[in-house]
Amino acid sequence: MLYLGRKAIRRVPGTVIKAAPIPKPEMTEGFGTRDQVGRICREAGFSSVLLVTDSTLLALGFHEKVTASLEACGIPFTVFSDISSEPTVSIVKAGRKAAIACGADCIVALGGGSVMDSSKIIAASATHPHMPLQHYLHKFAIAEGGTLPMINIPSTAGTGAECTVGAVVMNGHGVKSATVIIGLDVAHVILDSELIVDAPRSVTVFCAVDALSHGLEGLMADVASTEEDIRRSRECVRLILENLPILLSDPHNIEARQATLRAANYGGNAINTQLAGYVHAFAHSIGALYHIPHGKAIAHCLVPIVAAQEHMRYEEMAALAVYCHLADEQEPIQAAADKLLMALRELLYSCGLEKGCAQMQESDYDRLTAMIDADSINYSPSRTLSDSEIRMLLDQIRRGY
Ligand SMILES: [Fe+2]
Repeated sequence: MLYLGRKAIRRVPGTVIKAAPIPKPEMTEGFGTRDQVGRICREAGFSSVLLVTDSTLLALGFHEKVTASLEACGIPFTVFSDISSEPTVSIVKAGRKAAIACGADCIVALGGGSVMDSSKIIAASATHPHMPLQHYLHKFAIAEGGTLPMINIPSTAGTGAECTVGAVVMNGHGVKSATVIIGLDVAHVILDSELIVDAPRSVTVFCAVDALSHGLEGLMADVASTEEDIRRSRECVRLILENLPILLSDPHNIEARQATLRAANYGGNAINTQLAGYVHAFAHSIGALYHIPHGKAIAHCLVPIVAAQEHMRYEEMAALAVYCHLADEQEPIQAAADKLLMALRELLYSCGLEKGCAQMQESDYDRLTAMIDADSINYSPSRTLSDSEIRMLLDQIRRGY
């Protein structure tokens, strides 16, 4: 879409999301707390559970505390562990079939973003067995009468997918299809740091940077936000800035692990209520073209793109710097905002990330620019970037800042 067209509709996504109902799950937090699933199900009156997970978590035995607690509470369950890192429609179809076959009245999702997203479509489609699955893969899928209630237990501290209303799966043509499920019922979220305490350093870093970007982009978006949504997004950024450095030197620090899970959850709230922005539009496009994992692509894009938009949101960035104890309230807003940018630079530098993005080619800039333009219309960024600005930023990302 041409620049003027994108500029004209810039605030539309931020207005549209205000009409979508957002799940308000209860929260349970703490090391090993997935053993509370049985009690939660019993108190909610659930009589049959489909536990959705993936083969890696199953092999690690991470599901055992969940199944043991369901057994202890006398709640029948079926385990569906066929979710892959790039879930397809046929996998989701099989999950829906399993939910219907066992008469599930609750979906427990244990895993990362792929498990969460697949489970959302299973939860939405299992209540309408005769509706074609395709109905739940449109850009907006209305779950008439609601979805099966979900209990979500994330195994990464990054996407916040345990509370977001979006779901991404591969459609029949091998293309990622993003759906917003209207009426998604997330009854409970369990943030259990035992699932992430042994995560490799790279996973910890890229997930944390992704979470941080959700809070930050939410605050930079041109969207009307409640005070609580602003607080959560600021808290998301503060928790990562303070706790990721702790985890770099002390990866088994339980409090810091728990804090990153909380941050990721608040980042998910930012996606639901404030949307992402250009950092994600760039990262999606670069990630798709060069097969770079999402969190790594975000790490490449974060600083140059925040820096390019900082002047549009000086006041919010300065307030965030004060909230994160990086600046005093008395400081000029530009100086305070710059301190936040400096803290982001230092954080990424301390993670030892490579400088620049070696896979990127100048000859791909036209294609990338078109991809970024197309993705950016899903968000309400503080400003619409022209194609020449996008090319300039691509160059900064390729060379490193
Ligand atoms: Fe993200």
